[in-house]
Amino acid sequence: MLLNSIKEIKSEIKNWRVKGLKIALVPTMGALHEGHLSLIKKAKTECDKVVVSVFVNPIQFGPSEDFEKYPRTLEADLKLCDNEGVDIVFAPNAIEMYGKNKLSNDTLTYVCPPYFYADKLCGKSRIGHFDGVCTVVMKLFNIIQPDYAYFGQKDAQQVLIIKKMVEDLNIPIEIIQCPIIREHSGLALSSRNKYLSEDGKKNALVLSQILNNIKGCYKKGITDIQALKETAYSYLTEKHDLEYLEILNKNTLEEDKNANINSIILIAFRIDGVRLIDNLYIED
Ligand code: PAF
Repeated sequence: MLLNSIKEIKSEIKNWRVKGLKIALVPTMGALHEGHLSLIKKAKTECDKVVVSVFVNPIQFGPSEDFEKYPRTLEADLKLCDNEGVDIVFAPNAIEMYGKNKLSNDTLTYVCPPYFYADKLCGKSRIGHFDGVCTVVMKLFNIIQPDYAYFGQKDAQQVLIIKKMVEDLNIPIEIIQCPIIREHSGLALSSRNKYLSEDGKKNALVLSQILNNIKGCYKKGITDIQALKETAYSYLTEKHDLEYLEILNKNTLEEDKNANINSIILIAFRIDGVRLIDNLYIED
């Protein structure tokens, strides 16, 4: 069932609550792919009812980012959700979500995660991005009041920040992190892969190659973070505009002296102007 209004979805969910049903939320910006479907499938096996939200959230995009051109494929998304047995697709518009407020923190209440987590990695180039993410996720949590919410590890920083928000604000929702889904080639699935040319797609494989190479070097005994990072440079060509390559603690995003069992390797680069991110636990 497709619902666009907060009032309608709240009343539908009230009926589920009365019956004591376990409710899952899978928040998305649409353009659904196998990565999203893996979250939905897991939610289906663990909960009685599954809500998928489809909302391209304007306040998490910077002024020069791809909000306007972000892929919007609602018809196809609805078919995929239908095939997976999703109970409700919640697809509000921006006025439904934010009213007629000017979309800035001059007039709208934002949920702002701690700088320590939000200002590094993606947050360094995407100023205010995680304020926008936390604000919309908090609103979705309040509207739907799920028992569980499902997020992909591909946005590892996002999941960590949302878990922190849930803990710090005592939100009674369990966050479930699901593994990255990759093409056979190793490329992590992303709605933004749609922007890539054939050539761009080939160059994008360097993302997962770098991650696997660093993991391989670690397994051979190299733990010095600088030395591990340096192994990446031979993969990069003038086509790859590296934004960051970091090896951090997966639970705290702190820098350790040496890579260890808790390390996560995170990378972001642009190819032909398309920004791609990926990550890998150094040990699974
Ligand atoms: O990961 C995403 O697609 C978005 O950041 C989210 C969590 C749906 C919030 O808009």
